Amino acid sequence: MKSTCIILLILSYISVILAFVPQLATPTWGKTKLFEAPQDDNFDGVNLVRLLGLKRVKKMQRRFKREANAEVARTSKGTAPSPVVAEKKSSLKLIISGAPASGKGTQCEMIKKNFGLVHLSTGDMLRAAVAAKSDVGQAAKDFMDAGKLVPDDVIIGVVKDRLSEKDCMQNGWLLDGFPRTAAQADALAQSGICADCFIFLNVPDEILVERVVGRRTDPETGKIYHMTFSPPEDKAILDRLEQRSDDTEEKVKVRLEQFHTNVEAVKGSYSDISVEIDGTAKPDEVAKEIGVAISSKVTA
Ligand code: AP5
Repeated sequence: MKSTCIILLILSYISVILAFVPQLATPTWGKTKLFEAPQDDNFDGVNLVRLLGLKRVKKMQRRFKREANAEVARTSKGTAPSPVVAEKKSSLKLIISGAPASGKGTQCEMIKKNFGLVHLSTGDMLRAAVAAKSDVGQAAKDFMDAGKLVPDDVIIGVVKDRLSEKDCMQNGWLLDGFPRTAAQADALAQSGICADCFIFLNVPDEILVERVVGRRTDPETGKIYHMTFSPPEDKAILDRLEQRSDDTEEKVKVRLEQFHTNVEAVKGSYSDISVEIDGTAKPDEVAKEIGVAISSKVTA
């Protein structure tokens, strides 16, 4: 009995030492480890698998994922956004697509607020490039003025570079207005850039024209208004509102044509992660539907 106790005591000492000195326990051939423990960045080198057992660690990982997903589902049902969601879904990657004036920019303001993602609007990026008279801006200007899509080779590199920056890698991203052609979707896929959810806002053309013509933007905050549906209450804001040069009835026709030529190919590239949302409802209702759609795709 006494010797059994001594053996058990020695064995437990050995297992504690092995748990904290992984090199002693992980057999290697050359440089290749015979088995790899799941990475654990939060425990400063302590090998949890050896300490608690692989089965228990996997169970903990599954529980952690379930709790994170439940939190996303809870916040997307309209309750207040929680910092836990931003923390646990920090790498969420979303694409929002739809016709001109379907409400992409309006919804992005809300999604960004709820999920803390980096919002990348290719329209905004190109307008900034035009204003700065950069090479990209000069290459894009005439196409934008005509309501046409800028060439793929002008925009693809800009987006790929931006997505590889630190803030996008750390916080996740929300791509607004890209990809718009099959070539742009292929370029993302070939670079290994994948999204979790492709949100498509569905709005009939006749509604879009009215939205385009009435749209105004606050140059100070970037907030989007509509002179009929959502005018600003503050007179100072009203006075400084600007109208985009491509927001005319004539140019929106060209923009819609370009959209209809490409939309099916783009949607086809994301059929497995795609959700179609009725964009004709009120902005808050559209936002709620988007929240539910995101959680359904993320938890799937
Ligand atoms: P871009 O700026 O992306 O324009 P767009 O796709 O035509 O989209 P919009 O910004 O016009 O509309 P939106 O869907 O954001 O609607 P919003 O929320 O503002 O691109 C501009 C140009 O850049 C292109 O034409 C092209 O030349 C170039 N470009 C950009 N990306 C490119 C790419 N990838 N490849 C090649 N070229 C590219 O809403 C519109 C209005 O409706 C607002 O007034 C708003 O208040 C109102 N509204 C919104 N939601 C609702 C609602 N639910 N009910 C009632 N009103 C609403």
